[in-house]
Amino acid sequence: MWIFGYGSIVWKPDFRYINRMEGHVKGFIRRFWQLSEDHRGLPGKPGRVVTLISTGNPLDCVYGAAYEISNEDEASVRHVLDVREKDGYTIIETSFYPNDNDQKERNCYTYMAQQDNPFWGGDAPIDQIAKQIAEAHGPSGSNREYLFKLADAIRLLTSVNDEHLFTLDQLVKEILTKDEQNIISI
Ligand code: SIN
Repeated sequence: MWIFGYGSIVWKPDFRYINRMEGHVKGFIRRFWQLSEDHRGLPGKPGRVVTLISTGNPLDCVYGAAYEISNEDEASVRHVLDVREKDGYTIIETSFYPNDNDQKERNCYTYMAQQDNPFWGGDAPIDQIAKQIAEAHGPSGSNREYLFKLADAIRLLTSVNDEHLFTLDQLVKEILTKDEQNIISI
């Protein structure tokens, strides 16, 4: 079994795997449209985490990492991920295209938030999403850490520009710099 990660699973798999490959899935875009009250935010003050949005356009690619799980570990890893992704994500099957051209395309499972889940945040002005991420903290850490680690990990595995992700990375850094300057000048 292969599991494709495009969010925290890229930089923090936290499960046993026998192989890792970088690459992409097609027909999706990555958006911070899922609310998080259990990992990167709190009830009443949710953070925002990524989900795949299906566009049906094969030219839309989302880069991340796929992990091969041994038959022996399949059930336990599924269980760990079902619990970890429990707030609104469901598992889907799609094709994964490795960066390494010598590797063939393969089937993978990935966790995706559907629009009818209770934690669906949906689209919002990008400045508003950035502010929400800059301010949110949850049991797994700050929402900004989630964003910065993801942006850094994606830059390392592809030169393809993920505009939504990298714009948020920059906007949140600008908000934090401004906040620091305000504190210094008080
Ligand atoms: C993923 O990483 O693939 C799912 C979303 C997340 O847990 O950040």
